[in-house]
Amino acid sequence: MKIAIGSDHGGYELKEFLKLYFNDQEISYDDFGTNSLESVDYPDFGKKVAQAVLTNKYDFGIVICGTGIGISIAANKVKGIRAALVYNEETARLAKEHNNANIIALGGRTTKPDDAIDIVNVFMKTIFEERHQKRLNKINQMEESLDE
Ligand code: RB5
Repeated sequence: MKIAIGSDHGGYELKEFLKLYFNDQEISYDDFGTNSLESVDYPDFGKKVAQAVLTNKYDFGIVICGTGIGISIAANKVKGIRAALVYNEETARLAKEHNNANIIALGGRTTKPDDAIDIVNVFMKTIFEERHQKRLNKINQMEESLDE
């Protein structure tokens, strides 16, 4: 299991908290920044994590901004990315089970740190249900038609 993780300043503290947990649990990750509370632009970090996930070196990505909204919108602009803004264990489970999300987005100002750990654990242990693939195929087709 290897995770690509990144945030803006609004998600920095939650990112650092999750990294401590990953270190403790010996879960492998690469951190794509940001590296301080200094104000930065969330699209830059959503893009970095999205591009990392597309290399297939990672099982999934985690992006964090203040709410998770902006950085999930940004990550979803990268072709092949299905970034899901998740806010509890149920949405984390469904993001994998139904949507096969390859990135989850969290809100540094809206998600409690302990809840974030539960969310990540549920996402990691849940399996995608193949019966939903036909909907994902339609999303893929939408991406392809935008290229035409
Ligand atoms: C930055 O202040 C904030 O706008 C950003 O972290 C995020 O919440 C945007 O969606």
